[in-house]
Amino acid sequence: MNIKDHIGSIPGFPKEGIIFRDVTPILECPEAFEEVTKQLSQFARDVQADVIIGPEARGFFFGIPVANELKLPFVPVRKPGKLPRKTISETYELEYGTDTLCMHADSLKPENRVVIIDDLLATGGTVEAIVKLVEKQQAKVAGIGFVIELDDLKGKSKFEGIPVCSLVHFEGE
Ligand code: PRP
Ligand code: MG
Repeated sequence: MNIKDHIGSIPGFPKEGIIFRDVTPILECPEAFEEVTKQLSQFARDVQADVIIGPEARGFFFGIPVANELKLPFVPVRKPGKLPRKTISETYELEYGTDTLCMHADSLKPENRVVIIDDLLATGGTVEAIVKLVEKQQAKVAGIGFVIELDDLKGKSKFEGIPVCSLVHFEGE
């Protein structure tokens, strides 16, 4: 099973000059989805996760199956105005402008070992904001798991000291 065979590459989406790496073929192939879930779950087990956290929307695709596989809680990170209880939030820089991510303020305990799961590491801005949300609650980020890492963007450099696992790498392709 080669996971890379189940990632689509769409030039010019969502704009000129970008090759979009599409994980939906993984979701459409049960064997590939099972393999991705197995590998990310093994990573989370190795770093002794006791909570899995992931951002909407594509982080849910992979974070929830991992949490279910390991029988661990899943904590959703969402855009503002979506979570009903008291939230904490973190604003981060995009190429043009800023974005904000939120999580329920009572979803983590200080002793938690949290693994963040997302589909793709590009600049790292999204997951860096989640690291800050976890640390605001005095919990520890035990590791970060991605399906895809875009090596050229060097997003991993934002996570020094934290174990990072990426199942598939693209560089300058
Ligand atoms: C994409 C992707 C990652 C993030 C990676 O999410 O799913 O979460 O960007 O980029 P970064 O490393 O530069 O932060 P997007 O915000 O497009 O939303 P989606 O998951 O809801 O599709
Ligand atoms: Mg995303």
